[in-house]
Parts: sequence; C-alpha cells; structure tokens
Amino acid sequence: ASSGGSVASDLHDQLPEQVRSSGVLRIGTDLSYAPIGFKNAQGKPDGLDVDLANALAGALGVRVQFAEVPFDRLFLGLQAREFDVVMSGMTDNLQRRDGTDDQARKMNSGVDFVDYFITGTSIVVAKGNPQKVSSLDDLCGRTVALQRGTVQASLAERQAGLCEKSRKKLTIQATETDDQALALVAQGRAAADLSDTPAAAYAAQQGRGGAQFQVAGEQMQAGPYGIALSKEDTVLRDVLAKALDRVIRSGDYDKILAKWGLS
Ligand code: ARG
Repeated sequence: ASSGGSVASDLHDQLPEQVRSSGVLRIGTDLSYAPIGFKNAQGKPDGLDVDLANALAGALGVRVQFAEVPFDRLFLGLQAREFDVVMSGMTDNLQRRDGTDDQARKMNSGVDFVDYFITGTSIVVAKGNPQKVSSLDDLCGRTVALQRGTVQASLAERQAGLCEKSRKKLTIQATETDDQALALVAQGRAAADLSDTPAAAYAAQQGRGGAQFQVAGEQMQAGPYGIALSKEDTVLRDVLAKALDRVIRSGDYDKILAKWGLS
C-alpha cells in the first residue's frame, strides 16, 4: 500500500475488471451545457465535468472517453452499457434513484450516484425581463422553455398543475438542448428558460453574442450533482468515491471549481 496518495496503482487495482483491462472509463455526457460540459472554441470537450472526469481518471490510472448523448437519453445509454457512467451535471434525486423520474422510468431500475457538487435551478429571462418573470408563479399564463429530461422539466410540469388552478395555462416548450431553450427566450417565443444556476449565470455573463440574458429571482431546489451509474456497479461506485476523495484532498477539485467560477 502506498502512503503517497498520488500513486494511482492502488485505486487502479480496485477497478472493475472491464474498466481495468480496457484502461478506459467511458462517460456519457451532453456537451451543450457550459460551463458544466460543453465544446470549447477548438471543438474539444471542456467544463467542470470534463476537468473533473480527467482528474478522476488520473487518480484511477485510466483514460476517459466521452460519448455525446442528448441529455434525455443518458440513462438509456447507461442501461445499454454504451458507457460506464454519466457525468452531465446530472442532479441526484430520489426519483432518479428509485426509477420514477421521466428519464429513469425508461430503465428497468433507478440509478446510483456519487455526488460531487451542489447547485440549484435559476430562471433566465431576456435582458430587461420584458415579461416580468421572477418566480415560478409568474410563469402562469406564459411559455417556459427548458431542456428535455431535466429536473427543470419536472419542476415546470408541477408548476403547470398549480397554474391550472389560477386558470392561467403554463405552456412548456421542451427542447433537446438548453441552448435551444435560450434561443426561444432570445426570440421572445418563451418568457423564460429554466436551467441549472451555473448554466444560467454563464448564459447571462457570456451568452452567445454577449448580454442577451439575465438571471431573475432566486435559486430554487438546491441539490447535488452526481456521477450516475447502474445500481449493480457498486465496485465502480466505491472506487469512484475514493478517487473523488483524493481529487478533493489534493486541492485539484478546488482548482477546477475556481477555473469555472464555481467556488
Ligand atoms: N441538473 C439538471 C438535471 O439533472 C440539468 C442538467 C442538464 N445537463 C446537461 N448536460 N445538459 O436534470
């Protein structure tokens, strides 16, 4: 056993056979969600998830290989074993663990998670907030845009039920990527986009073409991001948790958060 902490071999030995022998950790991800996971100007995967995945792989002595999948198909790909884990700003919640979430329902069972960050949902509106939206209730009688398969989709569906009571219908426009949802807001076809707070802040700060958007109201529904994996993959889960612990203790985790303005 090593006492150095930076020696990868002890964790490498604990990997499940398939990952160890291939030397590759396959990661399913939707790279349309700056600064969490996206393609940079060179077309390369970048962001919090990408940097953290590489740091974890370093601690495990393997390489990473990203499989790009639309967000709402990530659990299907996981079930089909197209990749070993999902890292995609995926919120860890009970519905996904027990298989009752919209995404998880397509699987035979829920998923397991190794948590690595905490954030929540924010409301993105066009600059100047023309439709005066700063809470979920303000969305009644309007159109909200969001990415399919996300916790924001569930949140909006619940809100649509509440809006019915006030007889002001909430229309939901679910798009494949959050960028498409933002485009609907920019065009005035949706009053707001619901997304994770880091993605919302990024859109407001550097959204395509500059200051098109702003964040309105307070963050809602704070909860953890987790690396998602199949429930039976407990060996991989435990070694990933150890690798994450090491990446945190080495200081690399803090450096990655700071790099993406997420500290
Ligand atoms: N955290 C939210 C969820 O889990 C949204 C994540 C969207 N991530 C992405 N890569 N597009 O539902």
